Amino acid sequence: MVLEAVGVAFWTMLPAYVPNNAAVLFGGGPPIDGGRTLGGRRLLGDGKTWRGTFVGTGAGALLALALDILQPTVVTTSGLALPTFPPLVALSLSAGAMLGDIAASFAKRRTGRERGAAFPVVDQLDFVAGALVLTLLVRPGWFLETFTPVVLAVVVVMTPLLHVGTNAGAYLLGLKDEPY
Ligand code: CTP
Ligand code: MG
Repeated sequence: MVLEAVGVAFWTMLPAYVPNNAAVLFGGGPPIDGGRTLGGRRLLGDGKTWRGTFVGTGAGALLALALDILQPTVVTTSGLALPTFPPLVALSLSAGAMLGDIAASFAKRRTGRERGAAFPVVDQLDFVAGALVLTLLVRPGWFLETFTPVVLAVVVVMTPLLHVGTNAGAYLLGLKDEPY
């Protein structure tokens, strides 16, 4: 039951997990805030770029569409009740993840944290909150069917563990400046 929920939660959140990593790999260029400040601090900072946001969102959405193609085969072989992603959900999971991360940077700058500073819990769950809230808004029926209480609980516990693990890995590989 729990193992099943882990499988379903991981599959369902993959389109929200990939955008941040794609942004780290392919981000850069002009910052979204164009250098603008608010109260003497950057609105978002140089770590939130147009390119990272678009490539991240595109990567997550494309992955969701690829998972839709694989879904029947994976369901047959694994026996898991995996969801498919309607096009709008493919977009809301990935764009929501990027928006959550951007909102967190806004909050970090407002609370005096410089670019790259750690913001425990927020760093680990900002993109989950963004992906879930945007998906709930655009496809409430799909959201409630897919994110049962058990799956939601698994997402909230599993995501920080995965996030810490992948970021530490990206740091060790020299892809990321900080291990969080
Ligand atoms: N990135 C990007 N665009 C985004 C998100 C991330 O280009 N929307 C890239 C940036 O190169 C960024 C890196 O991914 O530096 C790591 O992302 P993140 O840790 O979210 O940003 P930080 O640089 O740590 O900045 P912040 O303190 O605002 O989180
Ligand atoms: Mg960071």
